[in-house]
Amino acid sequence: LERALKKIDVIRLLLGKQIQNLPVAHPVQAFAPANIALCKYWGKRERELNLPQTSSLSISLGEKGATTQLAVIEAEADVVFLNDVPVPANTEFYRRLVAFLDLFRNKYYFKVTISSNLPIAAGLATSASGFAAVVLALNKLFQWQVPKETLSIFARLGSGSAARSITTGFVEWQAGRLSDGFDSYAVALPLRWETLCVGLLIFNQAAKKIGSRDAMQQTVATSPFYAAWPALVASDLEQLKIAIMDKNLSKMGFIAESNALAMHATMQAARPAIIYSEPATISAMQQIWQMREAGINVFFTQDAGPNLKLLFEESALLDVLQFFSKLEIVRPFSS
Ligand code: DP6
Repeated sequence: LERALKKIDVIRLLLGKQIQNLPVAHPVQAFAPANIALCKYWGKRERELNLPQTSSLSISLGEKGATTQLAVIEAEADVVFLNDVPVPANTEFYRRLVAFLDLFRNKYYFKVTISSNLPIAAGLATSASGFAAVVLALNKLFQWQVPKETLSIFARLGSGSAARSITTGFVEWQAGRLSDGFDSYAVALPLRWETLCVGLLIFNQAAKKIGSRDAMQQTVATSPFYAAWPALVASDLEQLKIAIMDKNLSKMGFIAESNALAMHATMQAARPAIIYSEPATISAMQQIWQMREAGINVFFTQDAGPNLKLLFEESALLDVLQFFSKLEIVRPFSS
């Protein structure tokens, strides 16, 4: 068996001599959008490099996401701020970010300022967009001359879903087959859908009990239904791409909603079970199904938390707001 590559080997191979680039003298800033998967990434074939079992497809949230400022500092440790608040060195957030920067730092330490314009409680505020924005900022700081695919690979090393936040619009993260993951990166779908809206329906601000990283691992390891997941994703993904190309909201929404429910079903069958839904989550699902029966074209998707993300078109906005008045509306193609 060939030895699995470490993250650091991947970066050395992809950057070559550029790993020795000097940083530019001024602070840099980069933005990356958050993304919502319409066909989910759930389960890894390799954990060190975050290589997925399947491809996945997401929509990036336009101007909603994370901005990262990066500056080289004279210090023995990184200094991190999140939404203007210093992040203590003993937190999981700090440790994960610093471990990621270790891969790229050479001999430099950084002041990292991450700010998100999405409610942290939405459960998508910092992870994917945060790692992607850090990679884009590192790219500016060290002036790497690398293709976008390489930046997506680097973001994946921080968090799988971050691979998709390097790009705007609809994005497919191709699973790839290689053990080094050099063919596992995100590619944009060449399409704009101006009238598409995503609504963030936030019920619960509390931190989740189990994060997506551990939850997907537990699902792969113990759920009797996980075996059915890869084939389902393959067919959902194919249908989803057709629906998106046709700008068919009903078809796209139905596949996204069904795919999310199927992902949650694999988790529910894990041992012990993982259930992110709360009573408010289920009530909202029932509400959405009633709205559809009444002719309002709205669908939901759900990630590793109780909150829902709604999919609809501009023409349904007023109807949707009548039922969910506190919805945070995102237009992925507004700019
Ligand atoms: C439910 O990307 O957070 O949001 O690769 O371990 O960092 P790691 O996992 P992460 O998982 C995201 C899971 C999901 C589905 C998705 O975004 O596709």
